[in-house]
Amino acid sequence: MERLDKILANTGRWSRKEARALIRAGRVTVDGTTASAPEEKADPAARFAVDGEPISGEKLVYLMLHKPAGLVSATEDPRQPTVLTLLPEHLRRVGLFPAGRLDRDTEGLLLLTNDGPLAHRLLAPRRHVDKTYFVRVDGVLDASDAAAFAGGMTLADGLVCLPAGLEILEEPGTGLVTLQEGKYHQIKRMLAARGKPVVYLKRLTMGPLSLDPALEKGAWRPLTAEELSALRSV
Ligand code: URA
Repeated sequence: MERLDKILANTGRWSRKEARALIRAGRVTVDGTTASAPEEKADPAARFAVDGEPISGEKLVYLMLHKPAGLVSATEDPRQPTVLTLLPEHLRRVGLFPAGRLDRDTEGLLLLTNDGPLAHRLLAPRRHVDKTYFVRVDGVLDASDAAAFAGGMTLADGLVCLPAGLEILEEPGTGLVTLQEGKYHQIKRMLAARGKPVVYLKRLTMGPLSLDPALEKGAWRPLTAEELSALRSV
C-alpha cells in the first residue's frame, strides 16, 4: 500500500502538490470511491480515476534491453517467446511494451516502457529519430552502396526510403547504417536490393540512447535519469 498522492505523482502526470490538490478537491476515485485525503493509502494496482477518467496507478518504467536473437519484439505472441520473457514477473505486469520493433533475429538496443506518449513521440515518422545499426552482409560493402543509401533508395517492391547513412568499417562486409525511419525489414530490404544480404544486424543507438556496452545479451537495466531526460527532450 502507498500514499495516494505518491501513487498519482508516480504516474508522471502530476507533481505531488498537484496530486494533493486533486485529491482534496474530491476529483479522485479509488475503485469507484471518492478519496478525500492525500495521505490515504491505496494499492497501486487499484483502479484510479480523475474526474471520472480512468488512469493507471502504475509507475512509468523505462528499461534498456540488450535484445538477443530469437525473441519477438511484442508483448504477446501465440507461437514465439517475446522480449518480455526476459523480465522478472513483477515487471511483466506493469504494461511494458517495446518502443519500436527489432526483427526476431536482430540484436541490440530495445527500449521497453509503459509510457505510451513518450514511445509515440519517439516513433512518430515525422520526427525522424535516428537509429544506428551494426550490419554484416554476405558480400563486400563499398562506396556505391553508401552513395545509394545517401540518395534515398526506391526498392523494386515499392519501398521508398529516406536518405540513410552507411559508414563502411574495416572488416570486409561490415558497416554502420543510420536510418531516420524504421520500416518493416528496412535494412535487410535495402541491402538485399544491393545484392548483399544481411547476415547479422544489431541496433546500437536510438535517438540519444546508446546500447550500454556493459549489458550482456538478454540483460536489461532501468534508464538513468540523464538518459530519460535526453529521451524526453527528443
Ligand atoms: N532493419 C531490419 O531489416 N531489421 C531490423 O530489425 C531493424 C532494421
